[in-house]
Amino acid sequence: MMIRSRIRAATGVLLVAALPAFAGDADPLPHRDDLSKQDRARVARVLVPPADPGAPEPYEDMPGGAATSRKRLNANAFSFPSANLSFSGQRDFALGNGLFEKFWVSSPASTRASDGLGPLYNARSCQGCHLKDGRGFPPDAGEDPVALFLRLSVPPGEADDRDRLESGADLVLPEPTYGTQFQTFAVPGLSAEGRLEIDYTQKPVRLDDGTEVMLRVPDYTIAELAYGPMQSDVMISPRVAPPMIGLGLLEAIHPGDILALADPHDADGDGISGRPSWLGKGGDDKRALGRFGWKASAPSVRAQSAGAFAGDIGISTPDVPRPHGDCTARQTACLDMPTGEQADLGESEAPDPVLELVDFYARNLAVPARRDARDPEVLAGKGVFADLGCNTCHNPKYVTSRAAAQPEHRFQLVWPYTDLLLHDMGEGLADHRPAGSANGREWRTPPLWGIGLTELVGGREAYLHDGRARTLEEAILWHGGEGQAARDGYAALVKEDRERLLRFLGSL
Ligand code: HEC
Ligand code: HEC
Repeated sequence: MMIRSRIRAATGVLLVAALPAFAGDADPLPHRDDLSKQDRARVARVLVPPADPGAPEPYEDMPGGAATSRKRLNANAFSFPSANLSFSGQRDFALGNGLFEKFWVSSPASTRASDGLGPLYNARSCQGCHLKDGRGFPPDAGEDPVALFLRLSVPPGEADDRDRLESGADLVLPEPTYGTQFQTFAVPGLSAEGRLEIDYTQKPVRLDDGTEVMLRVPDYTIAELAYGPMQSDVMISPRVAPPMIGLGLLEAIHPGDILALADPHDADGDGISGRPSWLGKGGDDKRALGRFGWKASAPSVRAQSAGAFAGDIGISTPDVPRPHGDCTARQTACLDMPTGEQADLGESEAPDPVLELVDFYARNLAVPARRDARDPEVLAGKGVFADLGCNTCHNPKYVTSRAAAQPEHRFQLVWPYTDLLLHDMGEGLADHRPAGSANGREWRTPPLWGIGLTELVGGREAYLHDGRARTLEEAILWHGGEGQAARDGYAALVKEDRERLLRFLGSL
């Protein structure tokens, strides 16, 4: 089985096509309008969970299907292209890589195609936060926060504000002076918005066998505000940069498969609801399903990337034509600064094909093959993961849509371990800052593929939306709300089973 999967991956043949058809006449996946009835039956069969949750499953060591990277593992493990990319795709990937790493400079500059930074910004390149295409980390003592920033907004005041939020016209209402993001850097001649300080308080928790685990609770202080006070009821949400692998495959998951996992009113009574993140105005057919970001506030990699250019780096694109980035009308000195828009180079600071290439790059960073997927201890840990109900939210597998934008992402059996839905994760993780359809306690289930390589790629570990968890065990112990039962289940395990579960996560 392993050998066959390797040959197929190398030749780019779709893995699922080789599996036997499903017996019976009922249509098990009526929402899969991209598939023939015969394919639907085949796919449904592949997606059935194994009777023994600790049993090995075909192809699970290839979490990104034929796009999985089998390159040798080192600190560049997250930087390889989808293994099934064409030659022209590999060329575009290399061009996109250059743009992802590019340092933007302030205007005017002699390198005209690279200017336009800021005026306010959080980092000068995409790579500055998504370190080696992996996740960013909260700063160590004495470091400036870069890969962790604060999103800002204010609650609705007037009826008009409420309408804008309820209709979906706006995700959030910007803080009137500081906008939707707190920028801790500015180009020469302009003040940064202020400084962000992070302090941690230690919080011991005890597992059922008496073992003590120390969690750290972050506390954020906004200091040296350069543009006057913030509105007193400002809401802040700390966010650390997530890893960049497998994003095109997440985009290729059929929306119907995500909606089929939603249970907004917990009809099955398992304590876990799961709500889709709907974005934008209009009825069901006009709204977009959010998938990206810690609250699933972006519908596509391109939308998230254009948002990052504007909000994080201060670069305009065709999709977010704001050369002054997140400057607000009250920040007049910021609006007076020169921009990098030059008619002869294109309409925006990062015109297409720049945004297109960055989007292509971000959609094609490969998920590495799993290590030790057949190790008996890892398989036992996989069983524990299922027994504790972790896979209710961290949904193991999908077969991507045949209608996906990019051929390499179509009809692949993938193992991201996420439902891409929003869950109430309890008071401990709440940011109390609603965004779109996500309330102040909800977060999107993050994919777990590649999570075992975090330290190899980033040189350290930090998990959850603000990087507060220093180990996978701490991340689990922070689960509350809909995740409370799974967390309590973990705390009640004997040491050997805890280790098996952590080994399984480490093999992803
Ligand atoms: C200042 C740090 C920073 C910079 C610079 C940055 N990002 Fe991000 N990125 C983040 C954070 C934080 C998130 C999570 C956002 C959220 O939850 O709203 C994110 C999320 C993303 C995601 C969604 C990933 C997922 O799993 O949901 C993509 C795609 C992305 N960034 C692309 C880019 C691109 C392309 C650039 C450069 C144009 C860039 N980012 C620059 C911090 C950064
Ligand atoms: C109710 C849904 C739900 C259940 C059940 C659940 N998780 Fe999660 N998990 C989440 C969400 C949502 C987050 C992100 C929370 C945040 O960032 O604040 C998360 C985060 C994580 C992370 C950190 C991921 C990262 O990229 O930083 C790990 C590891 C994890 N979960 C493992 C587990 C394990 C193991 C179990 C079972 C013991 C489990 N989860 C059960 C929803 C769930």
